[in-house]
Amino acid sequence: MSHAVAAAFLALDAHAPTLEAVRTLDLFAADAARFENFSIGLDDFLFDFSKHKVTRETIDLLVALAKARDVEARRDALFRGDEVNNTERRAAMHMALRDLSGRPLIIGGVDMRPAIDAEREKVFAFARAIRSGDAKGATGQTFTDVVNIGIGGSDLGPAMAARALSPYADEGLRTHFVSNVDGADLADTLANLDLARTLFIVSSKTFTTQETMANAASARARLVAALGEAAVAKHFAAVSTKLDKVAAFGVDPTCVFGFWDWVGGRYSLWSSIGLALVIAVGPENFTEFLRGGCDIDEHFRSAPLDRNIPVLMGLLGVWHRNVMKRCAHAVIPYDQRLARFPAYLQQLDMESNGKSVTRDGRLVGHATGPVIFGEPGTNGQHAFFQLLHQGTDVTPIDFLVAAEPTAADARHHALLVANCLAQAEAFMRGRTLDEAKAQLRGQGLSDEEVERLAPHKVFSGDRPSSVFLYRRLDPRTLGRLVALYEHKVFVQSVIWDINPFDQWGVELGKELANRLAPIVENASGPTTGLDQSTAGLIEWRRAHR
Ligand code: F6P
Repeated sequence: MSHAVAAAFLALDAHAPTLEAVRTLDLFAADAARFENFSIGLDDFLFDFSKHKVTRETIDLLVALAKARDVEARRDALFRGDEVNNTERRAAMHMALRDLSGRPLIIGGVDMRPAIDAEREKVFAFARAIRSGDAKGATGQTFTDVVNIGIGGSDLGPAMAARALSPYADEGLRTHFVSNVDGADLADTLANLDLARTLFIVSSKTFTTQETMANAASARARLVAALGEAAVAKHFAAVSTKLDKVAAFGVDPTCVFGFWDWVGGRYSLWSSIGLALVIAVGPENFTEFLRGGCDIDEHFRSAPLDRNIPVLMGLLGVWHRNVMKRCAHAVIPYDQRLARFPAYLQQLDMESNGKSVTRDGRLVGHATGPVIFGEPGTNGQHAFFQLLHQGTDVTPIDFLVAAEPTAADARHHALLVANCLAQAEAFMRGRTLDEAKAQLRGQGLSDEEVERLAPHKVFSGDRPSSVFLYRRLDPRTLGRLVALYEHKVFVQSVIWDINPFDQWGVELGKELANRLAPIVENASGPTTGLDQSTAGLIEWRRAHR
């Protein structure tokens, strides 16, 4: 760590105690314009971070840390198409996929614009044919159901987005997502589908992922049993960077869509991996989704660091993680259609920043990515919010909510918004012992009861949250949300000096699963060489099945 970076971290550590005696409410009392000063609008999108217990000085110190880490230069290198994924010697240019400016997109010395535009146009043409009914299955019928088979980045993005944008989807076409190698996932999904009207999309960047290949093979077998081998050409499409492997699977070449190794799996929703989403919502809505991502790219590249939403999201996260030692971060969309957004973010954030070595392979000297979790509000309120309000750990929270009702029911939406804002307020405000006692007395309880119950009714307050308020959850807003979190994760990776674009940590488990699969499949056979626990579990299973 350079001297400047160490000094910036030390300055933050020295600043933290100055806030100990301060309450977030005091900060509002001292600054009538705190809401304006600690929120950023981007036309119909607002990021409010005024409920974090931070001052102008905190932000300045965090920005100084960002400067010491050269965040701007590293951001420019990212957008220039440099090999920022240094372990895999690749660019990370998913932003190129949503760049609608028409400018050349130079990656590895080559202008990728023509190839990107052509591949997207191919996806759009295919989607249009499915949506219009021009494309037909083996029995001459149109398609009613699309099943995306993929996992991780080849599943979470399209699945999250298809649900988020369901009001924009074609009513005659249903989209399904099968990811788990547990056969129940495929079986349950296919249970009520007519195979003659079902299109399968095998989505896999590598086209080797065990779960996806197993599910694809089973789906293929089901289709062939029902409609014959020739049906595969009409009922299977594939998305991958490994076109040779797709050919071996037998997908018709006109139904194969590519992308590039400079698109990370968890950043691939913008690529052909979005095929299921394009089929669901149509090319025009998908283009609006891309436009939303593009808006944020422009903002990220041009806004000053202290007015830059993803930079501030990242820096506030660093404040909580490294200075305040907070281990988790909750994302609570008060938007039922964003139900899969926390799961999507888990991969984006935890697979990117769950690292313990720096870009050049040395052990990091500080904490890196927090645990990300969440559920839609108001449901989360009745599950884990108790711990967030009164547990011993403080967890920063992102609240997401739309200004406009999504359904035609304004009453429900008013309740939803009220709950969202009330929770954010409650986390900040808390309730003191005296306030708890006064409330209990007001309810007519005896002094003894007041003393007994009051400690249980105390909320520490000062629990930090951001509120993302947007006009409505439309394709452009969703594109903005996804790109904001992508860049937040990138900013944090720069501060922590880690590579957010590789994922070696998932390899070991994959290797061991491949080694164990034949032993598990075998009803007898030796378990020698395995550790005692694994061998014992395999033997126990053999005896009990
Ligand atoms: O979980 C590891 C991972 O490599 C992810 O990064 C990726 O999104 C997922 O597996 C699926 O990989 P693929 O698209 O190659 O099947």
